[in-house]
Amino acid sequence: MKAVVIRRFGGPEVLEVADLPVPEPGPGEVRIRVAAATVNPTDIGLRSGAYGAVPLPAIPGMELAGTVDAVGAGVTTCHAGDRVMAIVQPRRPEGGAQAELVVVPADSVAPIPSGASLTEAATLPMNGLTVRRALDLLQLPAGATLAITGAAGAVGGYAIQLGKVEGLRIVADAAPADVALVRGLGADIVVARGQAVAAAIRAAVPGGVDALLDAAVQGAAVLPAVRDGGQIAAVRRFEGGSERGIRIHQVGVTDYLRNHAALAALGQLAGAGRLTLRVTATFPPEQVGEAHRRLQAGGVRGRMLIVF
Ligand SMILES: NC(=O)c1ccc[n+]([C@@H]2O[C@H](COP(=O)([O-])OP(=O)(O)OC[C@H]3O[C@@H](n4cnc5c(N)ncnc54)[C@H](OP(=O)(O)O)[C@@H]3O)[C@@H](O)[C@H]2O)c1
Repeated sequence: MKAVVIRRFGGPEVLEVADLPVPEPGPGEVRIRVAAATVNPTDIGLRSGAYGAVPLPAIPGMELAGTVDAVGAGVTTCHAGDRVMAIVQPRRPEGGAQAELVVVPADSVAPIPSGASLTEAATLPMNGLTVRRALDLLQLPAGATLAITGAAGAVGGYAIQLGKVEGLRIVADAAPADVALVRGLGADIVVARGQAVAAAIRAAVPGGVDALLDAAVQGAAVLPAVRDGGQIAAVRRFEGGSERGIRIHQVGVTDYLRNHAALAALGQLAGAGRLTLRVTATFPPEQVGEAHRRLQAGGVRGRMLIVF
């Protein structure tokens, strides 16, 4: 079977397509014939070696959608032929999502949202579960105010929409070209993105927001936006200390790799039109390097996917 493979760390040129043995599902596992797998910022970290010790060769990719091809002993939650989406841990020896056939624990799999294509569905598991994890850590009551940086991105977009589902007031940052996008996703207040984002959020919410999800990885620069005793959800390692009793949560989607209930709930919300699945381009595996180059260049709105 065909898979995207990294045999050494480096630029997009190290991405290859290889023919690998077909993986077999063990007890509690599901094999999926992959229709599409997304390209995310984390793939760039894996490829470049920035994420450190990953066993090589590695298969990148953290989320996919496709058709169940075989199930291992004891699996009752899905059956051959089901159209499913899944989150995948690419650092494991078996590798990640960008392969024709991928074996994952059954808990990492849920039905695709009704009305969604497999390509659209593949954009939901990893970034949707990241936001679910962040909101579960923040435990904000309805009516609280959540600011989101990087709001036009994949994490940011789901954060706006899941935040609204939970009754939060959302302050989102945006470049001028993205204002209509983030408003359309449901942001209540939109402020200019960039170095002055914390001051802009403070100007809009004078007491400071209850919490901030930092999908643009601004780090300590966003602290002034948060009220005394508020919270920050950091999606990369938070550099610098805190202040004024602000709690910093490190969000790791790997904590939800086997949260079937959360993944299924995301699928229901997307099927009900509460989460928008954004696809911008698809590539054959042989052109995965081009997807990496475009993602690294910035400005991509909606996910790029490898289609098998
Ligand atoms: N910890 C975890 O488990 C976990 C899980 C998922 C994602 N993540 C991380 O979360 C981050 C966001 O992921 P994503 O998939 O949402 O990425 P994305 O789709 O590329 O979105 C990032 C957004 O932030 C914007 N941005 C970049 N630099 C900015 C800056 N200096 N000021 C304001 N906005 C800026 C980008 O705009 P431009 O495109 O114009 O640059 C884009 O709109 C990534 O660092 C990713 O690795 C972590």
